[in-house]
Amino acid sequence: MQNEKILVLDFGGQYNQLIARRVRECNVYCEVHPYNMSIEKIKEYNPKGIIFTGGPNSVYGEDSPQCDKEIFNLGYPILGICYGCQLTAFTLGGVVEHATVSEYGKTMLNTDKTSVLFKNVKEETSVWMSHTDFVSKAPIGFKITAYTKDCPIAAMENENRKIYAVQFHPEVMHSEEGMTMLRAFVYDVCNCQGDWKMADFAQSTIEQIKAKVGKGKVLCALSGGVDSSVAAVLLSKAVGEQLTCVFVDHGLLRKNEGDEVETVFGPNGHYKLNFVRVNAQERFYEKLKGVTEPERKRKIIGEEFIRVFEEEAKKIGSVDYLVQGTIYPDVIESGLGKSATIKSHHNVGGLPSVVDFREIIEPLRLLFKDEVRKVGLELGIPEYLVYRQPFPGPGLGIRIIGEVTAEKVKIVQDADYIYREEIAKAGIDKDLGQYFAALTNMQSVGVMGDERTYDYAIALRAVMTSDFMTADWARIPYDVLDIISRRIVNEVKGVNRVLLDCTSKPPATIEFE
Ligand code: XMP
Repeated sequence: MQNEKILVLDFGGQYNQLIARRVRECNVYCEVHPYNMSIEKIKEYNPKGIIFTGGPNSVYGEDSPQCDKEIFNLGYPILGICYGCQLTAFTLGGVVEHATVSEYGKTMLNTDKTSVLFKNVKEETSVWMSHTDFVSKAPIGFKITAYTKDCPIAAMENENRKIYAVQFHPEVMHSEEGMTMLRAFVYDVCNCQGDWKMADFAQSTIEQIKAKVGKGKVLCALSGGVDSSVAAVLLSKAVGEQLTCVFVDHGLLRKNEGDEVETVFGPNGHYKLNFVRVNAQERFYEKLKGVTEPERKRKIIGEEFIRVFEEEAKKIGSVDYLVQGTIYPDVIESGLGKSATIKSHHNVGGLPSVVDFREIIEPLRLLFKDEVRKVGLELGIPEYLVYRQPFPGPGLGIRIIGEVTAEKVKIVQDADYIYREEIAKAGIDKDLGQYFAALTNMQSVGVMGDERTYDYAIALRAVMTSDFMTADWARIPYDVLDIISRRIVNEVKGVNRVLLDCTSKPPATIEFE
């Protein structure tokens, strides 16, 4: 499938992925590449347009990322955002200055309606600003097309050369008409037609996999999460019986989850997959006995997962292809990011070295999460699976603080089940980003009936987030919390107290360990 493409050049800003997602929301395919992509590579890539992202540097900084001036002469339309705007000005002979005070937050933007970027937005519209440096003089040939009270050149353009630059961030939702501006760039400046559709993606991916795999054997680690489920169904539509899915139940899944996965993907399910369920609960509990350190727990669960998977793979014999549910943010982050490891994430990343196979197939490698969901719906996967909350690979193992035991797993499963049931009943499940119950390692005194109790405290976690990198704690109504708390204490043996986690990320993380 040959799509028209927009190229996002990454100058290190925090909203890079968001820009690409927004372009794709306009039905135009888009990829993020490092800012120093060579001119030859760019020409080979042949984008319909290029977007320069923001970034933390100053164009005058010693190590600041720069671009080859030649890029402006290639004839591709360019949109510079924030740092990208300053870099455009600086490279083309304008002046960038350092302000004494940063402009940060929502600001009113006054727009020139004769600009193609602003023709469909209000004359005064609110946008999100986050900068210290600013363009004080536009390069020759550029017209100033927007200003704010503190920023005289908030947008500038050279219509003939199709070079546009904005100091604010149209990609973030706080810019109320940002999408309209991006759409105008993509459609009216770059002349895209909007040929990126998920139905086409699913169909063409199935055809490509068919052609590639031929009569080969394919193995997939299925977790029941949205990514691996969509990958498995794509593969099964392409190669049917040649695919075997292995589902490892590590005993750290949510209540009933193992059976739910089996119902959908097992032999009696809709997809008629070769489905192998491995009930490995006891093995995992045994390995986790006495272990309290979070990173150690994560490592043990990850390693044991690989061992179990390896044993099953051996039974199947050598395979030609291994399927992984890698998605685009994983690709971008591992390719460009330099961020510190806060937690070692466990997905199936460790598998390749232990399974004898020829090649990896990653059918979702180019998709963002919301696109994976759309493909899932196209493939007829039930909505409750497609919109399921993210669930970490180590599962409840990192929602039980301290040592993991079968008894504690049961407690947190039951509490979490009640929590989810009541949130759904209250009709707020779709409003929350992620929510779950965790078992603290705190025991405290309570009174039930006339009896003294000395039991565990359950912590309720709920966050609002769009990217899971930052999150705000969710304000669940008190009356809903009241029902949840009463039910948990009454119905879950071993719990006498319910606590609410009202910390955002940062400084906390979403999970507890
Ligand atoms: P944290 O706790 O790092 O979580 O704020 C951010 C998001 O990542 C999920 N998470 C994981 N997902 N393997 C995964 O596949 C992991 O080891 C893992 N740890 C955290 C978490 O549920 C949240 O959505």
